[in-house]
Amino acid sequence: MTKRIESLKIVDKQQLNKDVFILEVSGREKLPEMLPGQFVEVKVEGSPDTFLRRPFSIHQVNYGQNSFRLLIQVAGKGTETLSRLVKGDHINLIYPLGNSFSLPLNAEKLLLVGGGCGVAPLLFLGNHLRANGHLPDILLGFRDSERIIEYDDYLKTGRVFLTTEDGSRGEKGFVTDHSVLKSAKYDRIYCCGPEPMMREVAAFCRENGIECEVSLENLMGCGIGACLCCTVLTVRGNLCTCTDGPVFNINDLKW
Ligand SMILES: Cc1cc2nc3c(=O)[nH]c(=O)nc-3n(C[C@H](O)[C@H](O)[C@H](O)COP(=O)(O)OP(=O)(O)OC[C@H]3O[C@@H](n4cnc5c(N)ncnc54)[C@H](O)[C@@H]3O)c2cc1C
Ligand code: FES
Repeated sequence: MTKRIESLKIVDKQQLNKDVFILEVSGREKLPEMLPGQFVEVKVEGSPDTFLRRPFSIHQVNYGQNSFRLLIQVAGKGTETLSRLVKGDHINLIYPLGNSFSLPLNAEKLLLVGGGCGVAPLLFLGNHLRANGHLPDILLGFRDSERIIEYDDYLKTGRVFLTTEDGSRGEKGFVTDHSVLKSAKYDRIYCCGPEPMMREVAAFCRENGIECEVSLENLMGCGIGACLCCTVLTVRGNLCTCTDGPVFNINDLKW
């Protein structure tokens, strides 16, 4: 798949809560094909501390409008700088990068599991699965009800189950505590979120013979396989999360 380095215009910005916002970007050229799980590397202008590009999942693509969205949570200086961008500004991206989630076999029962900002690639994946004739369930975990994002968008994709750590909405606890994991038998789980959560989901899938893919968010330098700072230990040795991933089948990971 061809990679582009391009300056794209911010055509919309939405603030979802105090820390999380969406940038919708569009360019003059027709967008390339992008797949769920792939990511972009964003150049953060105007600060020597943010010299390295920052990776973000492709959150939603609208080929009709020739635009796509990034869902960004403020975590440090780079994302804080990006949060000050406004409609009409431009950002420079390298995209689309990395591999993608694989499509399931027909008639498999599917669950998407996302925690916190790890939900970012799952809306695109859910829409992609729907477009390919699948009807996934979605299990989302947040710290509290204030941090729940895009619930209504997920409802258009499939049945949605919620957990919050403080019990303010949905079931109390972590995603791995949710009762749907005990009551429904899934064939395949797609997961993205904090690594401890993904490890728990992976352990659950191993115990229960469920196929599972996780999208890793290892720290990245270049995003294109040149700096080797994003390696992950797999059954095939050390692989780069940016070029061999970010999506891995848990059977390939030495977790
Ligand atoms: C493939 C991939 C996809 C990602 N997709 C998204 C996304 O869609 N939306 C989103 O909000 N974030 C996403 N991230 C995480 C995002 O890249 C980081 O939060 C961002 O780079 C932090 O930059 P910063 O300059 O604001 O913070 P920094 O000052 O660089 O770091 C602030 C804090 O965040 C931690 N941090 C930095 N990078 C990561 C990381 N990759 N994973 C976990 N902690 C990190 C640092 O250790 C530090 O504690 C993704 C990461 C990867 C590798
Ligand atoms: S981020 Fe440089 S090799 Fe992966």
